Amino acid sequence: MTHPFDLSGKTALVTGASRGLGWEMAKALHAAGALVFINGREDATLRAQSRDFAHMIPLAFDVTDSTAIAHALKDVGPLNILVNNVGARDRRNMDDFTLEEVRHLLDSNLVAPFDLARQVARTMPDGGRIINVTSIAGDIARSGDAIYTASKAGLTGLTRALAAELGARNITVNAIAPGFFATQANVAMVQNPEVQSFLDGRTSLKRWGQPEEIGGACVFLASTAASYMTGQVLTIDGGLRAHF
Ligand SMILES: NC(=O)c1ccc[n+]([C@@H]2O[C@H](COP(=O)([O-])OP(=O)(O)OC[C@H]3O[C@@H](n4cnc5c(N)ncnc54)[C@H](OP(=O)(O)O)[C@@H]3O)[C@@H](O)[C@H]2O)c1
Repeated sequence: MTHPFDLSGKTALVTGASRGLGWEMAKALHAAGALVFINGREDATLRAQSRDFAHMIPLAFDVTDSTAIAHALKDVGPLNILVNNVGARDRRNMDDFTLEEVRHLLDSNLVAPFDLARQVARTMPDGGRIINVTSIAGDIARSGDAIYTASKAGLTGLTRALAAELGARNITVNAIAPGFFATQANVAMVQNPEVQSFLDGRTSLKRWGQPEEIGGACVFLASTAASYMTGQVLTIDGGLRAHF
């Protein structure tokens, strides 16, 4: 009997996988047996990162460039698993954004996952999996972060809507909502004692998530273990949303 988390014979694309959570999810899918295309904008970084992994292939393109996506997908062929992980951050008060900056953030965090899902789904085989990386900000908000929050709430809605649209083809669409993870992007916050004290009071586990703690959720959603699960958000936040 095949293990329910076995991904042998599956082909995956993880966007924004040159570092951070994307890289951890790519490694976890690879360890479960998948052939994994890792994406980012810099080919040299992707090559260096994947050098020691037999079934990992760099696929550099900018997710906000629709033509570049189409060009890259032509070389790859049908994908069983798409992980839409790229998400730009820009935390500022509402009056500090130009509308051009607002549109740029929405392009990265919402339009690009839609575009990738649409292009990949056209040739995705039966049993395909689309996994969108949202955030706890998709459901809860704080001051000074309106556009990122709106983009992630939009991505959560998109997850449900695409699950409804692609369900008849037996393609599932789910989301992972990380809480506070100690990735490179958060180095300054990790060193800030005020943030640690916030996490002490606000999370059940009283700590930052380590990047490698995201991989298992991604493998689960990509595997046959999650075959009857779609349109859902899996929150990985040390209990932040469950705790007060
Ligand atoms: N870390 C957290 O605590 C946390 C919490 C909640 C949600 N999230 C979400 O989790 C996801 C990953 O976060 P992270 O902290 O791991 O991010 P990160 O460390 O900033 O990594 C971003 C990745 O995306 C790539 N990238 C950025 N823009 C791109 C573009 N336009 N096209 C292609 N690749 C692009 C980067 O590579 P290049 O720069 O080389 O292109 C890099 O590989 C995001 O969606 C974020 O919103 C993270």
